Amino acid sequence: MKFIYYAAFLCSLATLTSSAEMVVTVTQKCYPELPTTSKTTSTSSSSSSSASSTKSSSSSMTSSSSASKTSSTSATSSPTNVIDTKCGGEFFDFSTINKIEPFVAEACKQNMVFTNGQLELALKPGCSPTLSYPSRFKTGRIDVLMRAANGSGAVTALSMYGDNKDEVDIELVGKTPINFQSMYFPKGVPIKGLELYHESSPSSNLQETFHTYSIERTNDAFNWFMDGNLVRSLPSTDPNFPTTANHFKFGVWDGSASSSWAGVVDYNAGPIVMAIKSIKIQPYC
Ligand SMILES: *[C@@H]1O[C@H](CO)[C@@H](O)[C@H](O)[C@H]1NC(C)=O
Repeated sequence: MKFIYYAAFLCSLATLTSSAEMVVTVTQKCYPELPTTSKTTSTSSSSSSSASSTKSSSSSMTSSSSASKTSSTSATSSPTNVIDTKCGGEFFDFSTINKIEPFVAEACKQNMVFTNGQLELALKPGCSPTLSYPSRFKTGRIDVLMRAANGSGAVTALSMYGDNKDEVDIELVGKTPINFQSMYFPKGVPIKGLELYHESSPSSNLQETFHTYSIERTNDAFNWFMDGNLVRSLPSTDPNFPTTANHFKFGVWDGSASSSWAGVVDYNAGPIVMAIKSIKIQPYC
């Protein structure tokens, strides 16, 4: 399993680079349909989520994005801790949790540290911290409040993998601090042009600021969100729809092999750290 996972990942990267430079501007097919999880809170929802911990500062760090976004979703720039436990929802606040479980450390557990009120994953030579969530999704949504790893070559990734190598990704590459990439790989095959890039609003350095990144699977679509705002939707009617992608994995990798895309890691430049404040897992019933 682990081997297949890494093989698929590396293959994707390699083919991406060789298939051409990742210079991308594509008009996105964006469906306005937006099945947000209940956001009944006011725009100061950070106060409600502060119940989750003392780290309401994380909300203030990202709440600037609320100013220019649609009011329906701007209220929550960080995941709320409101979960539907009936459906198996879980909220992990890493300022109060200091164990990996139930996530599975798939690689480089020694570089997963709980500190500064967050889970920090440090990329080191030959050691790319990778975690997975044990349950598979039929439909549901994951929200991750995080800061991308800094430094050229680092690849910060949130991914859904399927048994037939279908893959849905959010990836941030060290070389480009101001945007993230939404991508999917039908049966593991990288298809040029499927990747789209998204910036925060207002634009910010994603290696210095915390944002909530979300992947949602509904019966009808895969949806990508940033700070609660839908940035991309892929309808299930798409012939390349990654139907089996249902296993959530995340971590930080060395993307130096795809240097034109990610840049090259310089391990002497200082610590390369991905920081996660919280993860919300919400399967839909
Ligand atoms: C990443 O950021 C940390 C903290 O600001 C800094 O110490 C480190 O040198 C940076 N790493 C790289 C590779 O730039």
